[in-house]
Amino acid sequence: MLDPNTIAKEAIEEAEKAESSRALYEVKMKYLGRGGTVTSLLKNMREVPPEERPAFGKAVNFLRDTLEAHFASLEEKLKEKETLQKLAEERIDVTLPGKKRDMGAIHPVTRVKNELVDLFMGLGFEVFDGPEIESEYYNFTALNTPADHPARDMQDTFYITNEFLLRTQTSAGQIRVMESKKPPIKIVSPGRTFRSDDDATHSPMFHQMEGLVVDKGITLCDLYGTLEEFARTMFSPSVKTRLRPSYFPFTEPSVEVDISCFACGGKGCSLCKGTGWIEVLGAGMVNRRVLENCGIDPDEYTGFAFGIGLERIAMLKYGVNNIKLFTENDVRFLKQFRD
Ligand code: PHE
Repeated sequence: MLDPNTIAKEAIEEAEKAESSRALYEVKMKYLGRGGTVTSLLKNMREVPPEERPAFGKAVNFLRDTLEAHFASLEEKLKEKETLQKLAEERIDVTLPGKKRDMGAIHPVTRVKNELVDLFMGLGFEVFDGPEIESEYYNFTALNTPADHPARDMQDTFYITNEFLLRTQTSAGQIRVMESKKPPIKIVSPGRTFRSDDDATHSPMFHQMEGLVVDKGITLCDLYGTLEEFARTMFSPSVKTRLRPSYFPFTEPSVEVDISCFACGGKGCSLCKGTGWIEVLGAGMVNRRVLENCGIDPDEYTGFAFGIGLERIAMLKYGVNNIKLFTENDVRFLKQFRD
């Protein structure tokens, strides 16, 4: 059997020759690993005469501790040397141009929607999300537009079945809200709407944002004040708002809302077609029949509603002259909306 002192000498010599931490590790395993020399000395204890065993055991343990300490200090030195070597070899050239990634932009219609949601939430409105596939009842009948009503022709509807259709207006959501909630109600409802209509300012798919307020004592003045706030925030603080009589089956009275032209200040230009005013949305006081359809007593409660076309607002705000630009996904168009 090998003598511990001889092993110690050999192991230390070998370890000192190791030029890398990897090589040192191999030496360490050879002596102190599972099947290593020192470990097998302990395993072979049986061969040592019983009276010598305590002294032998002590010597082997001492050998193991000594080697472990020695290996650890060598390892530290080697690792330090290796780190310095690595630092010297690997260099970063900070003058190289970086990799550029194209940044995305928020779509102008989404941007308008976000701005409006912010504005109306600031005024205490909640956001309601209605379905895009609607029944005839919600899109028309409950909104005081029965089947034979001429106002159905105002909108060219995409029917899916006799009963179901792609909603032509977010107004359908008004009914859903009033059916499920008691006044006070104060919601906006943005979303996609569909009409069989197609030219430079109309697209078969477009976006609207509905607004609905129902409570005791709501008047046209409340509607007017809300829309003034909308016009000033979205366009310019100096913009004026005017209401013109109009017709929608679900509001009475109904109004068309114009703002003074923010491009020419009302003098008349190509944007406002010389009139000084730009039409921005439809609105009105909720028709008492609509309240009744939803189980709300029209003698106790009144309300106003409005519907904003988001593409229309985006076109006006950003000077876009064709609605198709919003859906063509041309990066040259979209990247103009980067922050
Ligand atoms: N839904 C109407 C439209 O799409 C707009 C509107 C909404 C009018 C709410 C009055 C009240 O033309």
